[in-house]
Amino acid sequence: MTEPRDLYSDYLRLDRILDAQQPWSGQGGAPAHDEMLFIIFHQTYELWFRQVLFELDDVQQRFSASVVDDHDMQPILARLERVVAIWRLLVRQLDVLETMAPQDFLDFRESLRSASGFQSWQFRLIETRLGLRRSDRIPVFHGQFDAGFEPHRREQIAAAEQRPSLYDQIDAWLARTPFVAWGDYKFWEAYRAAVDRVLDAKSDAARRNLSGEGLSTELSAIEQGRRKFHVIFDEAEHQKGQREGLWRMSWRGLQAALLITLYRQEPILQMPARLLSLIMDVDELLALWRYRHALITQRMMGMAIGTGGSAGYGYLMATLEKHRIFTDLYGLATYLIPSPVLPPLPEGVRSLMGYRYGAGPGP
Ligand code: HEM
Repeated sequence: MTEPRDLYSDYLRLDRILDAQQPWSGQGGAPAHDEMLFIIFHQTYELWFRQVLFELDDVQQRFSASVVDDHDMQPILARLERVVAIWRLLVRQLDVLETMAPQDFLDFRESLRSASGFQSWQFRLIETRLGLRRSDRIPVFHGQFDAGFEPHRREQIAAAEQRPSLYDQIDAWLARTPFVAWGDYKFWEAYRAAVDRVLDAKSDAARRNLSGEGLSTELSAIEQGRRKFHVIFDEAEHQKGQREGLWRMSWRGLQAALLITLYRQEPILQMPARLLSLIMDVDELLALWRYRHALITQRMMGMAIGTGGSAGYGYLMATLEKHRIFTDLYGLATYLIPSPVLPPLPEGVRSLMGYRYGAGPGP
């Protein structure tokens, strides 16, 4: 008779996984009760990071085609929806970590020596694959965040840096959006005329209703608003903004993202609009995670330096702003005008954006 096999444990390699919680605090002194939670916490994060990278593999593979097949959009959205759901969980999960008191953390902190989440190479891969460049990073350890990684991990990061990030891929995909310029239709020209009408109407209203200092303050604010729009209307202005670090996205990509945002109800733009919204969710959830993690760090360690050697809380709070990736998509909201004054799309363009069914024989 053959021995019954525990297929469940075999399949999940449970013996290996459940043997991987080996606290260090008991080795030289008294074991600290909360170290188990600390280990399991980091391990579950690393497992989810693995899943996020797995989803990104597929998304980036599909985006690497010179023309992204329409049929790829649904799986791309599904994968990104999953990444968003995972990241929501990773933020909420911190509630459990907060059941650990600072004193309980202190009881095993020394035994961690220099081990720190700073050395999470999977987290660095996620950041890099999404589009965080080395030059964007806060220069701790002279910008060599991967200096302490094993050589093959450093190579993995370097390889990811060489390949287009999701940011680059989305920018290139946006820049290829055909409807920004279609025949005689130039989106930015039609939009510029609408923006001018809105701002002219505002100036007229100010002149009618205000005088003296109030009027000049209002007119200069309107003029400032007009100049702000030059970034999307004038390529040279946009390039200047790029050099000054105000924008990262290409001029064409930026226009396409704005077109998609403004006309997102058109059938052909619905999926691209959903994609942009999901990308912003990812960016926002990463920032939320950074914020909550920084607060926990402050709660646990006050202003002490981290086990990884950074300034701790101060460093983590700085990453919150500096390590955002898709800020350009948020910047788009600066350029929106109200729907009632939005110029309608020319009929020829609009009809191309709809679903068209062949005239079949009928039921
Ligand atoms: C008691 C709980 C925690 C404390 C006190 C803490 C503390 C810190 C500190 C001080 C840093 C800055 C680097 C350094 O100098 O060490 C850091 C970085 C980091 N930690 Fe934690 N951490 C905690 C929990 C976690 C958890 C559960 C994760 C999940 C994987 C995590 C992941 C990270 C990551 C990815 C970084 C790098 C962040 C960056 O450089 O942007 N940490 N942590």
